[in-house]
Amino acid sequence: MRKKLAAGNWKMNGTEAQLAEVDSLITSHPDPKVELLLCPPATLIERMARRIGTAQIAVGGQDCHAAVSGAHTGDVSAEMLRDAGARHVILGHSERRADHGETDACIRAKAETALAHDLIVVICVGETEAQRDAGATLDVIRTQVAGSIPDGVTGAQLIVAYEPVWAIGTGRTPTLEQIAEVHDAIRAALTERLGAAQADTIRLLYGGSVKPGNAAEIFAVSNVDGALVGGASLKAADFSGIIAALEAA
Ligand code: PGA
Repeated sequence: MRKKLAAGNWKMNGTEAQLAEVDSLITSHPDPKVELLLCPPATLIERMARRIGTAQIAVGGQDCHAAVSGAHTGDVSAEMLRDAGARHVILGHSERRADHGETDACIRAKAETALAHDLIVVICVGETEAQRDAGATLDVIRTQVAGSIPDGVTGAQLIVAYEPVWAIGTGRTPTLEQIAEVHDAIRAALTERLGAAQADTIRLLYGGSVKPGNAAEIFAVSNVDGALVGGASLKAADFSGIIAALEAA
């Protein structure tokens, strides 16, 4: 049985004041029935982890370098994320693929380093609108899954997020049939690669304009084990509505 997961990606948003939202979340979900994860900017990881204390919200980074340490100005290592209190790291988000030219091979190298430092990796895949219009969605997803996920990973180490690039921050979402088609294809690709016993334990999240109003219908889709939420994770009231929908799913 895969434990459902509601993950928030704050992206490049938030200073100290934003942590008040975390206090509200803890108050409204003292004993969550699903796993909760928040990925703030690197500058807030340690403060968020301290603020959460023993409450049931995990903290994660939004990226890490493939190298263990060294001359990489401005980058953050997997060990630094762990040291700051992170237990997860998002890798291969489409904004990093686009803004920083990250390739599948680069994401796989980062994932291997993160796993070696006992971080749980959340690897993002997703097609652009042009790729969907060209009918290439499933090919793109299979290529990203094959190229960016390391060998031999387990459900305790890996979470995959399907995030159509055109749905991120746009208020547009795929149809439920389109989400099911891609999630089923990711599960099948993982099964072929890792065997059913491992593949069945890996959580698949949907991400891209998830809001309290559309969360319930998305969580009812086959092979959707939760959500990776951007904008709506910045407001405790919105994220809370999504958590409640996942608990009820
Ligand atoms: P969004 O972002 O929820 O703001 O669309 C999702 C994401 O990029 O993870």
